[in-house]
Amino acid sequence: MSACGAGLRLSAGWTKLAAAAALFGAALLTPAQAASASDMRKLAESQGCFSCHGIHHKKVGPAYAAVAQRYAHNPNAAAILQDAILNGHQGTWGVIPMPAYAPDGYLNPRQALDLAKWILSLQPKP
Ligand code: HEC
Repeated sequence: MSACGAGLRLSAGWTKLAAAAALFGAALLTPAQAASASDMRKLAESQGCFSCHGIHHKKVGPAYAAVAQRYAHNPNAAAILQDAILNGHQGTWGVIPMPAYAPDGYLNPRQALDLAKWILSLQPKP
C-alpha cells in the first residue's frame, strides 16, 4: 500500500468508514480509503499535533506508530487514546504532559475518537 504514503496501512474499521463516506461523495473520494486517512492527517495538522508528534519519529511526544504498537493488544485502546486527546495525559511516555483538546472546544469527542482510530491504524516502518 505504498500509494497511501509513509507506509500506512488501513484497518478494517477505516475500510467501513470509507465505504460509508463513499455513499456521500463517491466522485470526490478516489480512492475512498486514502481520503479518510488523509482527512485525519489534515485534522492533526490543523490542530498542531505534528509539532509534538511524528508518525515514525519521537518528538516532544511519542511517535504515533509507537503508540499504535504499544496499544496493539489493548481492547480499550481507542477509548484510552480518545480520552488522552480530549483530556490530556501524563506519565505513560515520560514526564512531559500531552495537552487537553476538549476544554476550549478544539476537538469534539467524535473527532478525538476518529484521530485515536487513525493513530491505532498506523504501522511501524517496514
Ligand atoms: C505540546 C506537545 C503536544 C501536542 C501539541 C500534542 N501532543 Fe499528544 N502527547 C504529547 C506528550 C508529551 C505525550 C505523552 C504523554 C504521556 O506520557 O502520557 C502525548 C501522548 C499522546 C498520545 C498517547 C496517549 C497515551 O495514553 O499513551 C496520543 C494518542 C496523542 N498524544 C495524540 C495527540 C493528538 C491527536 C494531538 C493533536 C490533536 C496531540 N497529541 C498533540 C505531546 C503533545
